[in-house]
Amino acid sequence: MLQHKKILLGITGSIAAYKAALLARELQRRGAVVRVVMTPSATEFITPLTLATLTGHKVYSDFTENKDSGEWTNHVELGLWGDAFLIAPATAQTLSAMVSGTCDNFLMAVHLSSRCPVIVAPAMDLDMFQHSATQANLQTLQNRGVPIIEPDSGALASGLEGKGRMAEPEAIADWMEDWLQKQAPLNGKKVVITAGPTHEPIDAVRFIGNRSSGKMGFALAQELQSAGADVHLIAGPVQLTAPSGVQVTHVETAVEMHKAAMVAFAQADIGIATAAVADYRAKTVVSNKLHRDEMPPAVELEENPDILADWGKHKKSGQFLVGFALETDQGEDSAKLKLKRKNLDFIVLNSTMDQGAGFGTDTNKISIFEKNGKSHIFELKSKAAVAQDITKLIMTLLPQ
Ligand SMILES: Cc1cc2nc3c(=O)[nH]c(=O)nc-3n(C[C@H](O)[C@H](O)[C@H](O)COP(=O)(O)O)c2cc1C
Repeated sequence: MLQHKKILLGITGSIAAYKAALLARELQRRGAVVRVVMTPSATEFITPLTLATLTGHKVYSDFTENKDSGEWTNHVELGLWGDAFLIAPATAQTLSAMVSGTCDNFLMAVHLSSRCPVIVAPAMDLDMFQHSATQANLQTLQNRGVPIIEPDSGALASGLEGKGRMAEPEAIADWMEDWLQKQAPLNGKKVVITAGPTHEPIDAVRFIGNRSSGKMGFALAQELQSAGADVHLIAGPVQLTAPSGVQVTHVETAVEMHKAAMVAFAQADIGIATAAVADYRAKTVVSNKLHRDEMPPAVELEENPDILADWGKHKKSGQFLVGFALETDQGEDSAKLKLKRKNLDFIVLNSTMDQGAGFGTDTNKISIFEKNGKSHIFELKSKAAVAQDITKLIMTLLPQ
């Protein structure tokens, strides 16, 4: 869930500030982009140089960058940058300043400017934590919708024992992932995607195949997973690695893909068919390699099952179905016919006539036709950006 997420990490003047370096590392290890803001007091506990080196970004703790030239740091821009503003450690002083809306240091100005959710991980001595003022501040923040990552109990820097030490970096990163998952728009939705070509054997070494690379299906798997969906990819023979956390079933033939796809679709909320499934297979498959003089003059074919049509037939109320059509001409009419015949919610058309679109490329140019007659025409984009467009439309049209 942290993949590509922009986390603004606020560090305040607690002895636990040293753990913020490990936290920044852990968030990045899980795929987040981390930028750091510090209170002036925090810079006495850990240097901005350490955090700047670890994150690869300048660290901010002051309103002005160069007092002589008057160069200043744009706290508003930073406040708008993040997907989440995580203040860890959060001192008693900063919690109180957040409640009162105080803006006497750079971090507090970013706090007031931020539009993203703010999360705090308090760190302090047990009596400071238990003090009615701190507890009242935490309650107020919680009432305002600020999630609190509870501190741990144990040995404190003061030598005392009790509740107040900041949660460990790994536990904070776990908490962030759980929280992001719950916030994600497709949280709890199950998606099944077919991707890539199928290979239909003729003999032990030869097959009927096509040029599909699977890139569009894999990009969709990545995007839908980032939106919180539980993604199951059913992939034909492709040279791609699935995003971590995505369940993958590898298949070879259309019959195998059909079997896996029907089982998965019965449990799914959304089905997306990007695979280029062979329409026909060889009627007889020879188990050894055919030599030149044994080759038949023609290969007799029989029809493969139509996965998308069968998904359409079995579609229950509440299930959402997306198909793809690759055409060698403009293809609008045949795509619209397929949309209707196969009981789809929308169809994505791409044409080999458009340069950079279709099989094997890293880009695609698509048009989408909805079942209600609405259409959307897109420019040539990377397959990742196309996956974003498709995911956004699914989120808009998905039955609640
Ligand atoms: C060695 C030392 C450790 C401190 N540790 C904490 C702490 O863990 N939590 C806390 O709330 N304050 C702690 N303080 C007090 C804060 O540094 C102080 O309240 C400061 O004003 C916080 O400012 P800030 O919230 O703007 O960073 C500590 C002070 C010192 C000198």
